[in-house]
Amino acid sequence: MEKADIGLIGLGVMGANLALNIAEKGFRIAVFNRTGSRTQAFVENAGKLAENIVACDSLKALAEAIEHPRPIIVMVSAGQAVDDQIAALHTLLEQDDIIIDAGNANFRDTRRRMAELAESGPRFIGMGVSGGEEGARHGPSIMVGGAQEAYRRIEPVLEAIAARHEGEACQAWLGPDGAGHFVKTIHNGIEYADMQMIAEIYGILRDGHGLSASGIAPIFAKWNEGRLNSYLIEITAAVLAKTDSGSGRPMVDVILDRAGQKGTGRWSAIEAQSLGIPATAIEAAVAARSLSATKKERERAENRFGTPAPAAGPATEEALTILEGALFAGKIVAYAQGFSVMAAASREFGWNLPLGTVARIWRAGCIIRSQFLGEIADAFDQAPETENLLLTPAFSDLIEAAHPHLRRVVARCAEAGIPVPSLAAALGHFDTIRRSRGTADLIQAQRDFFGAHGFERVDKEGTYHGDWSDT
Ligand code: 6PG
Repeated sequence: MEKADIGLIGLGVMGANLALNIAEKGFRIAVFNRTGSRTQAFVENAGKLAENIVACDSLKALAEAIEHPRPIIVMVSAGQAVDDQIAALHTLLEQDDIIIDAGNANFRDTRRRMAELAESGPRFIGMGVSGGEEGARHGPSIMVGGAQEAYRRIEPVLEAIAARHEGEACQAWLGPDGAGHFVKTIHNGIEYADMQMIAEIYGILRDGHGLSASGIAPIFAKWNEGRLNSYLIEITAAVLAKTDSGSGRPMVDVILDRAGQKGTGRWSAIEAQSLGIPATAIEAAVAARSLSATKKERERAENRFGTPAPAAGPATEEALTILEGALFAGKIVAYAQGFSVMAAASREFGWNLPLGTVARIWRAGCIIRSQFLGEIADAFDQAPETENLLLTPAFSDLIEAAHPHLRRVVARCAEAGIPVPSLAAALGHFDTIRRSRGTADLIQAQRDFFGAHGFERVDKEGTYHGDWSDT
């Protein structure tokens, strides 16, 4: 029988759609799922694409069905399940075969797995895939990390299945080791901030201006035609316009205000902290997600403290312009923070991450896709060594024009008691970085006072101690 070009383990939603995408692009794919009935059902429902699918009832059959060197995509839940699959495949594969973990893995696990396999095992690729079900089926954004020669073996497949932006495939090899999964993690951190800031603006329109969901939907739809144009703004408008068929109420009004999280957003905040890079807009979004889960506690707090009455007047054109500008400014800061975290990780782990390419492969296919990412790609192309997007000529002009709107919104919300943690964090970041004389002089003095940690002086070189004994 004709050998398959590639294999895939795990026919869950993402795995099944990715396999169909691969088959549709003319590649022969061998598939295996732990529950055999799912493999059967998958092939039966694949229609004409079944011609390109080889259903395997064991890992051994899967390994035997693929052309050497054998690339096998593992699309199972992140964590132990990936280790179990690697262990099972290890005995069946040879050193030049390639295991590709396409789940949302923690890049530290990817590094560990790569190191464990380096001596005797097959090669290992950590591949971030974004775009959800629809993306997996018709074109995701794909972020690859691992040995470049191993990537070359699967490049034609990735090139064919990835989303396209103006004809350019949204897939790339980004660096060795855990680079691909790290970039996917930061993608998700930015996704959290993007979603949270949109939700904060929705909160202002709902609780401050008293608008209904159907009244807010066209506002986002209109913004989607401008500089905020993005998948997340587009789906926000669609979601807000949707009515629950059972109750006849707006769909969002019948959905509990408690959001789940699988971990990647939290990892991005943890990694930012480990690297010592502020990603406060992202961190605030992760914290807001966690706070959303404490529904009972929030109910008790509302009973105790009350909720301020709506304070804003009607949502005039001017008010909407300010809100749009605030969201844009917040977004700039969140993306700048995410890219700074990637720049720092690139230095720390020696990845040489091509940040312009990262922005380019996020322009289509992924959840945070937007026209804005094209502008980020241009900024990195002009200044590849950029550590802080806010200091590039293009983005410094943009934030300079937009931050007064962010300031106005955050100030009004503080007075009105409307929570905007991620927008406020973005403003705090901007205000902190543009003040060259900060307040850490006092922190240094305090550290020296209680712990003799020493401090530097503004007027001469060296490390000094204060004589605090007489204070
Ligand atoms: C993507 C998404 C996806 C993620 C979901 C849920 O890029 O396609 O980021 O990978 O799993 O968005 O993530 P949370 O459960 O953490 O919200």
